[in-house]
Amino acid sequence: ETEFRTGALSCIMAIHHAPPPEAAPDWTIPQDWRSYTAAEHAVWDRLFARQTRMLPARVIPAFIDGLDILRMTRPGIPDFDELNPRLMKATGWQVVAVPGLVPDEVFFSHLARRRFVAGRFIRRADQSEYLEEPDVFHDVFGHVPLLAHPAFADYMQAYGEGGLRAAKLGMIEALARLYWYTVEFGLVRDGDALKLYGAGIVSSRGESLFALDDPSPHRIAFDLKRVMRSRYRIDDYQQSYFVIDSFEDLLRQTRDVDFAPLYEQLRDCPPIAVGELIPTDRVIHRGTQAYARFRAAG
Ligand code: PHE
Ligand code: FE
Repeated sequence: ETEFRTGALSCIMAIHHAPPPEAAPDWTIPQDWRSYTAAEHAVWDRLFARQTRMLPARVIPAFIDGLDILRMTRPGIPDFDELNPRLMKATGWQVVAVPGLVPDEVFFSHLARRRFVAGRFIRRADQSEYLEEPDVFHDVFGHVPLLAHPAFADYMQAYGEGGLRAAKLGMIEALARLYWYTVEFGLVRDGDALKLYGAGIVSSRGESLFALDDPSPHRIAFDLKRVMRSRYRIDDYQQSYFVIDSFEDLLRQTRDVDFAPLYEQLRDCPPIAVGELIPTDRVIHRGTQAYARFRAAG
């Protein structure tokens, strides 16, 4: 069972050094698609088949549309040179390969220019439970389909611009929580039901089930300030998920709002612990937290 449990956001935790010698000054490297082995393509195919069997009933339809528009349904690890013209045509985005984690500002600058940075390596067939760093399956299967959706594409670009700004204001930690609880682990309302859209969820079989079906986690209506105060865990399934109404609504609440005054308020607010509910929460499902208790008990 392959889970993506960590590192989803380590790409925006500070690492201050120069790009490795094989990388360009903007940290990109060629994907070198031809050097993937048959075994590596087979790892992709197996993960792809497993996720696409379970996701249609659970994920926001735009995700499935994105797989189609970008022809990601073809076997094998996608060749970025084939993917990019389709993505460019859909929303003006590109995928670029990087050797691993990149510094905050590099990550934000790429997003601000509509470039999504992706790892080129793929996990080994035996790396089933745990990944230290996002691989091409998480980065490309998880993140790229929604980049073909115009409102989500605009959100990601605005996030990059907001990141550059937050860096200057010393508020990356607050903004990182927003990324975590939307881009990585977000849920979206679909009538009376909930659907998945976060890349950390949709690239994980276990969490794709857990996030929607398990009685353990809290499911709370998205509230920007609340989310930016909320700590998260990188070592296991989330204890709380936040539910947006739509990508358009998320855009209105983020791109169209000046975060500077909010950051000033946040400086005086204590963070909210993992699994905690606060009185102002609009709780959609109050979790039992049974899974987290079970895991904590070892
Ligand atoms: N509007 C935010 C700001 O003023 C930037 C932002 C946009 C942040 C979208 C996150 C997502 O800084
Ligand atoms: Fe990610």
